[in-house]
Amino acid sequence: MSETGIAAGPAVGTTPDTPTPAPSSIRPETPAELSALPAEHPARRPVAEGGVAGASVLRELRGDRADTPSVWFMRQAGRSLPEYRSLREGTTMLDSCVRPDMAAEITVQPVRRHRVDAGIFFSDIVVPARQAGLGVEIQPGVGPVFDHPIRTEADVDALPALGDDYEAALEPIREAVRLTVAELGTTPLIGFAGAPFTVASYMVEGGPSRDHLRTRALMRSQPEVWARLAAWVAELSGRFLRAQVLAGASAVQLFDSWVGALSADMYTTHVQAHSAAALARVSDLPVPRIHFGVGAAHLLTPMWEAGATAMGVDHRLRLDQALDILPAGTPVQGNIDPAVLFTSEQARFEEARAVLDAGARASGHVVNLGHGVAPDTDPQVLTDLVSFLHEQDAHRA
Ligand code: CP3
Repeated sequence: MSETGIAAGPAVGTTPDTPTPAPSSIRPETPAELSALPAEHPARRPVAEGGVAGASVLRELRGDRADTPSVWFMRQAGRSLPEYRSLREGTTMLDSCVRPDMAAEITVQPVRRHRVDAGIFFSDIVVPARQAGLGVEIQPGVGPVFDHPIRTEADVDALPALGDDYEAALEPIREAVRLTVAELGTTPLIGFAGAPFTVASYMVEGGPSRDHLRTRALMRSQPEVWARLAAWVAELSGRFLRAQVLAGASAVQLFDSWVGALSADMYTTHVQAHSAAALARVSDLPVPRIHFGVGAAHLLTPMWEAGATAMGVDHRLRLDQALDILPAGTPVQGNIDPAVLFTSEQARFEEARAVLDAGARASGHVVNLGHGVAPDTDPQVLTDLVSFLHEQDAHRA
């Protein structure tokens, strides 16, 4: 059992002969554990007193089922909302992330509109790199583009040290989180970061890439250069997570959007320890740690072993099949196919019910999409889906 009150997978690199024991430490936090958070942190006060302790989404993530399903959507803030598009007008994506009032308002917009059970902090996986001083922008219609790709030992040597300057540069993030949680009240805020593989692959490729060939080639040809880069990103992302939690986030999610490009061998050899290092930056704090990858059915166990306390599952794998793979007692999150948002209401509700049923025997289940909300999703469809889910009995199956 970990001291944080949250189960984690076994130490990285161990392959237990016996099945991993059920995460018995998934339970409400003790006062001693909660004291690791600042006094004003919302997780230190119960919902009845205006805090978030005991909120349904946090209960599910701790393997303590609530009667009503909990739901939030990856990328719920953003282009699908007209109020987002009008607020963002004239401000670049990355500039909007470091304007605390704007980031807070954008985070709260979908909670207000859809009545989801958690907010996901509005930011991006490349914001930490930018705050550390790297030249990066998100080009509309393209994606993240770095001024100087990192491909050689000299490039890694030239990465900025992550010292006090980086901590200071995270202040707009902390301020945005403080404003957000004040606004969210009894709805928990989930903080997030990009995982080392996904973020480092943008740095190596210089921009979006279909197959991440240069990144995978770097791992094979110069494993020690890759390892130093991935360790740098782990610290970058891990400290970004920690800043969000200490400022008021009550759970975190590590997004490894492109990890599905790796074999299980490549993951355990070159990536797992770095994702573990990122998660370890918050493992002394009593907040659930969700780990999510796309196309990562073959990586569920090693991703869990990287120190997650709950696993996000994409829509390619049914939740009951994920539960067969994961250690007994693992809380799961997912996994409505975002494509059903573009079908009929009947198809959407059937899919939602099927996802609830597939997750019914999990120790905890937070409903989500199998990947993010697409920008052209009709927001009313999301609002209706949330109401439908809130009318369901989580235990029926
Ligand atoms: O659920 C979340 O909101 C978590 C945070 C998150 C965002 N983007 C928020 C975001 C995460 C984990 C990402 C990942 C990300 N960002 C990827 C990896 C692939 C994936 O989807 O998982 C990539 C390629 C990016 C880069 C990016 N960010 C692009 C191409 C854009 C759109 C361009 C623009 O100018 O709007 C963004 C913006 C972005 N990132 C938004 C949000 C909520 C706002 C706009 C939108 O709805 O897309």
